[in-house]
Amino acid sequence: MNKKKIIFATGNANKMREIREILGEDEYEILSMKEAGIQVDVEENGATFEENSLIKSRAIALKAPGAYVLADDSGLEVDALDKEPGVYSARYMGEDTSYDIKNKAIIDRLEGLEKEKRSARFVCAVSCVFPDGSDAVVRGTIEGYIGWEPMGEHGFGYDPIFYLWDKDVSTAAIPPEEKNSISHRGNALRMIKKVMEEHENSCN
Ligand code: IMP
Repeated sequence: MNKKKIIFATGNANKMREIREILGEDEYEILSMKEAGIQVDVEENGATFEENSLIKSRAIALKAPGAYVLADDSGLEVDALDKEPGVYSARYMGEDTSYDIKNKAIIDRLEGLEKEKRSARFVCAVSCVFPDGSDAVVRGTIEGYIGWEPMGEHGFGYDPIFYLWDKDVSTAAIPPEEKNSISHRGNALRMIKKVMEEHENSCN
C-alpha cells in the first residue's frame, strides 16, 4: 500500500514525535517541513487559533501539492484575564521574555482570586489541507486552573503554572506521556485523525 504523505508545519522535535505516535506511521509517511524541503515564512496574524492554524497549513499546501498538510496553533486562555494571553501566548510580554517571568506575571495578575476564579485552559487548533485542496480544522482543549506558584520540571512554556483540577498538580509535574494522553494537542491530533479518515472514506 502506498503511504499517504503528511507534512506537519513544525520544526519542533517533540511535536513531531507526538504526531507520529498518534497518527501512526503504518499508513502515513510523516515529514516535518524541513524533511519535506519546504520553507515558508507566514505571519500568524489571525484572531483565533483556528485562523492561525489555517494560515500556516494553507501557505504550506501551496508548496506541497498532493500531500496532506497539517499545522497547529496553541496557547493558554485565562478566564479572569479575558482569555489572555490567548493567540499571543508565545508573544506575551515579548517573545524573548523568559517563561519564569511570564508565569510569575500571570500569577501576580490573579492575586487574591480563589481557585474557582482561576480557571484556564490550553487550546490547540489543528488544521489539515487535503490533497484535493479542501480543508478542515478542529480544536482540542484541556481545562485547569492557574496555581499560586510554579511547580514541576517537565514540559515547557506555561506548564509550571497550569494545574489540573482533579490532581492539584501542574502539567509540568506529570510525566510527558501522561500529559500527551490528556493534552489539548493530543486531543486535537486524535480528532484530526478521525476527520482525515472520514475524508478519505468519502473520496472512495
Ligand atoms: P505553539 O502554537 O505550539 O507554538 O504554542 C504557542 C505558545 O503557547 C507556546 O509558546 C507556549 O507559550 C504556549 N503553549 C502551547 N501549548 C502549551 C503547553 O502544552 N504547555 C505550555 N505552554 C503551551
